[in-house]
Amino acid sequence: MDISTRAAGLVFNTPLLPGSGPLTGTDERMIYLAKQGIGAIVTKTIAPKGAAVERPCIAGKGNMIFNSEAWSEYGSDVWLERFLPNTKKEVDTPIIASVGYDEADMKYLIPLLNPLVSGFEYIPRYVGKDFEEVGNIVRTIRAMTKLPLWVKMNANIPDPVGFAKACRDHGAQGIVAVTSLGPNMVIDIKNRRPLIGTANGFVWTSGPAIKPLAVAYVNMIKEAYPELSVIASGGCASAEDIVEFLLAGADAVQMLSEAMMKGRDTYGKILEDLPKVLEKYGFTSIEDVKSTKLEKKAGALEPSYPAVDAEKCTGCGICQRNCPYFAMEMRDGKPCVDVEKCFGCGLCESKCPVNAIKNVIQ
Ligand SMILES: Cc1cc2nc3c(=O)[nH]c(=O)nc-3n(C[C@H](O)[C@H](O)[C@H](O)COP(=O)(O)O)c2cc1C
Ligand code: SF4
Ligand code: SF4
Repeated sequence: MDISTRAAGLVFNTPLLPGSGPLTGTDERMIYLAKQGIGAIVTKTIAPKGAAVERPCIAGKGNMIFNSEAWSEYGSDVWLERFLPNTKKEVDTPIIASVGYDEADMKYLIPLLNPLVSGFEYIPRYVGKDFEEVGNIVRTIRAMTKLPLWVKMNANIPDPVGFAKACRDHGAQGIVAVTSLGPNMVIDIKNRRPLIGTANGFVWTSGPAIKPLAVAYVNMIKEAYPELSVIASGGCASAEDIVEFLLAGADAVQMLSEAMMKGRDTYGKILEDLPKVLEKYGFTSIEDVKSTKLEKKAGALEPSYPAVDAEKCTGCGICQRNCPYFAMEMRDGKPCVDVEKCFGCGLCESKCPVNAIKNVIQ
């Protein structure tokens, strides 16, 4: 099965890319990931000078990763002299350089990195409602390179479509949506202090918990500007998630946190699953998924009531205890629906552990 994908004129052998972060912070780590079959390497963010990072800076809890990392702790000289040439010697995976942050940094970095990479992912420091600054920097980068340029979008940006437009109008081919969500805070109750973070105690959150936000932003941007290449980032944890992001409008999907929670060989495992998952859902290739139109329709104003399959039902009672409208009752160990009370919300169907409920959502 063909699992290659096209993005802003580049061809990636597979649609799974690493998110910029510690797993692509040195040549050793980039080569390790490339050998698992990722479609392109996305470097840890490179700036002219290495970052001084306050530690501890990463913690995992539930399905979330919290971090207070900055850009690469290595300056651009190390990337130019060692990390990028060494990686190119070992693997032929395309390399996308993540670069930060201001105009002077771009004027310095882009010409030096240009011969060593296949594309750029520019990450602005912070963008509020005023897109003038990001537009100007995108224009500066565009004037210095012909390579594909994506701009990475902050997860809590107030106007994602406006951001995408500003980037497109100034010469970007694409958007990476989204980076970690924040500022957030996690408190260590025992020690009466933030768990990790910089002096203000803030962290940024990533992992499956932020996936629905990332899917929405990918879809919003792609629907507004179909000509933009959108790369998804935020919460990918499986081959199914890749398909979901592609259906929303992504060309490729980045993943980082899941590989820090489940192991850095997760890239290879997901890529092994991907053809089977495509086949299971009736797709013939990645391009087939990308060209499938997402069907959107308004919900009904009248409820559909849940139908319980008594054979499948184990009588666990989850649906009865969870129903927010008090519309389920257990009778002889099986749930019964009170149609006078049922709002047809769908929660019971989505939560039944054995799929014994139908008719509301599916
Ligand atoms: C420890 C850590 C370090 C990160 N460093 C960077 C970085 O240097 N540059 C960047 O653009 N994004 C950085 N990110 C954000 C990720 O690239 C990614 O956008 C985000 O984590 C969401 O994807 P995920 O849920 O698959 O991890 C970092 C994330 C984590 C968890
Ligand atoms: S959640 Fe499913 S299995 Fe449990 S009682 Fe309800 S219908 Fe039966
Ligand atoms: S559809 Fe909603 S309201 Fe109706 S029984 Fe299920 S959970 Fe309750």
